[in-house]
Amino acid sequence: MSLIDLPLLMKDAARGKRSAVTCALKCASQCAAGPCNHSDNPTFRDIASSALSRRTVIGGSTAALAIALGGTQGAFADPGKGRGKGKGAGEGSDNGKGTSGVLAPNGSKLRFEAIAPVDYTVDEFTVAEGFAWHPVIRWGDPLFADAPEFDWNAQSAEAQKQQFGYNNDYTEIQEIPGSHGKRAVMFVNHEYTNENIMLPPETDEDDRIEIGMAAHGLTVVELERKNKNFPYEYVQGAALNRRILLTDEFTLTGPAAGSDLVTTVEDPSGTTVLGTLGNCAGGLTPWGTLLSGEENFNGYFRTSGASVAEKRYGLADRATARGWEAKYDRYDSRNEGYENEPNRFGYIVEVDPFDPTSTPRKHTSLGRFKHEGANVILAEDGRAVAYSGDDERFDYLYKFVSRDTYVEGDRAHNLTLLENGDLFVAKFDGNSPSAEIDGSGEVPADGSFDGSGEWLPLVVGGESAVPGFTVEEVLVNTRLAADAVGPTKMDRCEDVEPSAHSRRVYVACTNNSNRGVGGNAPADEMNPRAENRDGHIVEIDEQGDQTSTSFAWNLLMLCGDPAQGDTTYFSGFPVEKVSPISCPDNLAFDSVGNLWISTDGAPSGIGYGDGLFRVTLEGEARGRVEQFLSVPRDGETCGPIIHDEDRTAFVSVQHPGEDGQWGDQLSYFPDYDGVGPKPSVIQVLPKRG
Ligand code: FEO
Ligand code: CA
Ligand code: CA
Ligand code: CA
Repeated sequence: MSLIDLPLLMKDAARGKRSAVTCALKCASQCAAGPCNHSDNPTFRDIASSALSRRTVIGGSTAALAIALGGTQGAFADPGKGRGKGKGAGEGSDNGKGTSGVLAPNGSKLRFEAIAPVDYTVDEFTVAEGFAWHPVIRWGDPLFADAPEFDWNAQSAEAQKQQFGYNNDYTEIQEIPGSHGKRAVMFVNHEYTNENIMLPPETDEDDRIEIGMAAHGLTVVELERKNKNFPYEYVQGAALNRRILLTDEFTLTGPAAGSDLVTTVEDPSGTTVLGTLGNCAGGLTPWGTLLSGEENFNGYFRTSGASVAEKRYGLADRATARGWEAKYDRYDSRNEGYENEPNRFGYIVEVDPFDPTSTPRKHTSLGRFKHEGANVILAEDGRAVAYSGDDERFDYLYKFVSRDTYVEGDRAHNLTLLENGDLFVAKFDGNSPSAEIDGSGEVPADGSFDGSGEWLPLVVGGESAVPGFTVEEVLVNTRLAADAVGPTKMDRCEDVEPSAHSRRVYVACTNNSNRGVGGNAPADEMNPRAENRDGHIVEIDEQGDQTSTSFAWNLLMLCGDPAQGDTTYFSGFPVEKVSPISCPDNLAFDSVGNLWISTDGAPSGIGYGDGLFRVTLEGEARGRVEQFLSVPRDGETCGPIIHDEDRTAFVSVQHPGEDGQWGDQLSYFPDYDGVGPKPSVIQVLPKRG
């Protein structure tokens, strides 16, 4: 069977309008296989009645906020009416509203009027009026001085290794010190590949494998601009430019490094892994390195599928979508000596973008699961605290607290902070009677979805806190260890971001169509909607102490489209005045503490394209959602970076047009050259003159 046929054959397995190609290539069709978590750890509903805790209110009023907040948000017009004009790098119509010096109502310099939602079939990048969009870098752009220009019809692995990879996801930009705002270094994940639209069907199978492999991994690239009023351009041949490939060495760190669970015939020491896979979201550390989550790594390996651990991680005895196991032994753990190869993926990766010669690391201390990403905040005592979600239906939310403390100016020391520490998993309790959480999403009588929670220890002081598990077992088979202590089964935790402004932590639960279905865990107060198509956002408050083992929580929002009759909740903000939003994925904050959300899957939820949204967190307008941009057909909005003080923002547009085929493309973003789409990093900035 040709690999390119696989997504088509999978089409019937997809649910709703979710792209079958996404399911097959990104997640190994995990939805069709059903949830991995069959543990019988108690659901909230089982324990709610005995564990009601004090009601805790976070971040303002939790009562229905029946006030009209006029002006910024009207009823929305028909889909598509707000789309930007023109093809290629383009601009919204300029009414000047986006570029004035007047602060937005929520205090930000990035002032805009929300766009109308855009139908998911529109192949355009739509921005708020007064703003323009600009591709910073595209799939295939040459990174090094001698790197070849991209050629649709003459692709090769050797060229791809020197070019920007495919399906940019997590993206971060840091100014290069001393450059006066003119130069920056950008880090980007390349999560997976869409060979069906990248390559002609007649491509030699060996070339298909090698080009696909070369398009995975990570990129570090320098950017430059004239000044903040101009867009960034990437700099070919710059000193920091780097591609990290599947053949590059990573050092395993932490207690599980060197254990019998991670050794292979090629690496008997269990300390050196080649490559990184499924890199999804990530985070910038306080010491200037980047973290990247190895998420759907299971889709790259064929295994016996026999062990409890393999089943728990979705590892199976089936041909993978890309077939790498036919060429390379290590992608088939049934081969002697490679039994542990899948155990060497599923970690948080740390990369120093300022040192092109540095060896990236995989930190076992943060556990092994389908890490969406990780984000670090320093606790008051200087310990580094990292939050990370396991993006699988009914899986868990985790927190890592470093053993050692941050030392200002000692970068070499700070680079070791994620190598040792304590690991916890979250258990939530709600404070409303379980009878009021009926799966409809209706707010309970006390006016909010809220309660308390605790961080259950998995590793403390370098020792296992889970009976029957060694510390190595906890850190390699983290899902199994967590199952044993009874955490809360969540609706797919994607980005988990602590706010530097409030120190509260935000968790994007993207969706879970299986909630309350077919014997799966029912709705509970922190995942209160059965068949949760549109997702929700959890807000956690550790009362300013990030090392605390207890917390208060509430739901910031239940996503959806009120205009289509969805039961939604926006912290009491009038539902008719929010931009419809579905499937929250990546989170970011602007300089004044507003939350920004990018989405992945809105077409399957509310039928609009994915986009980027600003959410007001404080004051009377808490819960207001304003859509800033919408991405082209089949695209997912990833890696938001908000530099609102410069009135600019960046997003990665992942898998545009991925339901198409070579010769029958559905997107031509961003160049609209008539050949096909290119995943790209886009900067949005005020339209000039
Ligand atoms: Fe790759 Fe959880 O999104
Ligand atoms: Ca409640
Ligand atoms: Ca994601
Ligand atoms: Ca996602």
